[in-house]
Parts: sequence; structure tokens; C-alpha cells
Amino acid sequence: MSKQASLGTALITGASSGIGAVYADRLAKRGYDLILVARRVDALKKLAEELSARDGVRVQTVQADLIDAQDIAKVEKLLRDDASITMLVNNAGTATLAPFAQTDIAAFQREIELNITAPTRLARAVLPGLLARGKGAIINIASVMSQMVQPGNTVYGGTKAYLLHFSQALAQETTGAGVQVQVVLPGATRTEIWGKQGGTTLESLPAEIVMETDDMVDASLAGFDQGELVTIPALPDVGDWQRLVDARTALLPNLSKNKSAARYGVNS
Ligand SMILES: NC(=O)c1ccc[n+]([C@@H]2O[C@H](COP(=O)([O-])OP(=O)(O)OC[C@H]3O[C@@H](n4cnc5c(N)ncnc54)[C@H](OP(=O)(O)O)[C@@H]3O)[C@@H](O)[C@H]2O)c1
Repeated sequence: MSKQASLGTALITGASSGIGAVYADRLAKRGYDLILVARRVDALKKLAEELSARDGVRVQTVQADLIDAQDIAKVEKLLRDDASITMLVNNAGTATLAPFAQTDIAAFQREIELNITAPTRLARAVLPGLLARGKGAIINIASVMSQMVQPGNTVYGGTKAYLLHFSQALAQETTGAGVQVQVVLPGATRTEIWGKQGGTTLESLPAEIVMETDDMVDASLAGFDQGELVTIPALPDVGDWQRLVDARTALLPNLSKNKSAARYGVNS
């Protein structure tokens, strides 16, 4: 069996720039055939030509605006119908980092559709096939901003916290079924996402907190190879994350009871 036939096809959303384009590069190098999805089809085609010439893999491009009903339906159909698909990388996303009361609600609406609705729909489209074939992976690109409760991060951080929770619960549902779920929490990464909506620019951040995109994706794929569910490329001690998970688990027996807590003073 050829390398491609055994690895299958990876569908990457938001592959026209930044993190998604580096995933395309690395997965082609590994021998995956690719389906690259984004709105800027010229950038996708250029990347497709380069990667197919370099690595001898098949690269298909799909122009789709993932918040457009017809376009997302087209991508969902591909994910349902193409049995060669073994990996979905839910990477396309946008970040509006601005005060809630002063930001156009339409921008937040689009962000919620792209960062939450689209990856949820695409995962739902691909998963039954992966389960039936007993192999495959879903990689969701969240963000460390899911952990940063701070002004200017009301909606973006919330969308990424959704993706984290979604991935953690989905991983439990797919345990033992041959389908790997990974959620990646990048910190600040040098891509065009910064400053797009007139918000924070990369130049305004301390250099020591900004990672190069190549390094970020290489670490994420190393985490994937290690079978990590949650990958935080910058985090030196993974035990710090585990302690957070353990603290939440310790809350569980006390989160739902038939009486409210004594501090509210309402129990007879
Ligand atoms: N850079 C960071 O510091 C950082 C940190 C943590 C997490 N992330 C996450 O990483 C992911 C990738 O972002 P990036 O940093 O690589 O930024 P980027 O270079 O701006 O890439 C965003 C990608 O999403 C695509 N996209 C945007 N809107 C779309 C739409 N409506 N339909 C389809 N595709 C759409 C863009 O392609 P088109 O414009 O061609 O459609 C582009 O390929 C995002 O989910 C982001 O939240 C980034």
C-alpha cells in the first residue's frame, strides 16, 4: 500500500494563510493527500501546486466561506462522502479583541459562526464515517485565550473555551473507537490574524510571548503523535494543566445538590 493510501486525506480549513498553511505543509510532507478550504482560492491553489509538486500528494482546493450556508453544506458533503478522509483540521477562525459594548454585534455573530458553528458542523459531518472505518482524527485549533478571562476577550475567548470543552467531551465519546481527538491551545503566534480587526498588533506584544508559526505547528503535531488530547505548545510543565483539570474534577461531587449552600441562608 502506498504511503498516501495508508494515511488518507486531511481536510484543513483556513489553509490559505498562517497556521492552516503550515499544517498543509507538514501533513503533505508526512504523505497525506489534502483538501484545502478557505475563501482566498488563489492562495490555496498556489499552495496546492507547491505541495503536490514537492511531495507527490494529491491536493484539492475548495473555495468556501464557512459562515455561508451553501458553502458549509458543500464542505459537509465532502466530509460525509469522501471515504479517503482520515483527518479534519478545524483551523479557520477569527478574533475580534475589542470592548463588547463598542463592537458591532455582526462581527461577534460572524465570529461565533466561524469559530463555533462551523467546526461543530464539520466534526458532525465527518465523525460517523471515521467511526465506521474505525480510524481517523479531528484536530481543533482553540487558543490559550480560552483561559484568559479579561476585558476585550468576551467573545473570542468564549468561542475557544467552547472548542476546548467540545473536544474534551468528544474525546470521551470516541474513546476506544480508533478516532483521535486533539485540541490545540496556541499562545500568540506570528500570523496575519493579529491587528486584522484594528485590535492588538503583534508588534505591541513582548517578543518573548510570540511563537513562530512553524514552531507552533511542529509542537502541535508532536503532541498529536504523543496522543495528547490537549496540546499547549508553550506550556513548560504539563503538570500545571493537569492540576487545573484535577481541581475541576474535585468540584464535581458538590456542583449539583438538593439544597443550596449554607452561605445563601435559604434552607429551612
Ligand atoms: N495567531 C495566533 O496568535 C493564534 C493564537 C491562538 C489561536 N489561533 C487560532 O488559529 C487559527 C488560525 O488562525 P491564524 O492565526 O493562522 O490566522 P490567519 O492567518 O488569519 O488564518 C485564518 C484562516 O481562516 C480562514 N478564514 C477566515 N474566515 C473564514 C471564513 N469565513 N470561511 C473560511 N475560512 C475563513 C482564512 O482564509 P480566507 O481569508 O482565505 O478565507 C485563513 O486561512 C484560528 O482559529 C485562530 O483563532 C491563532
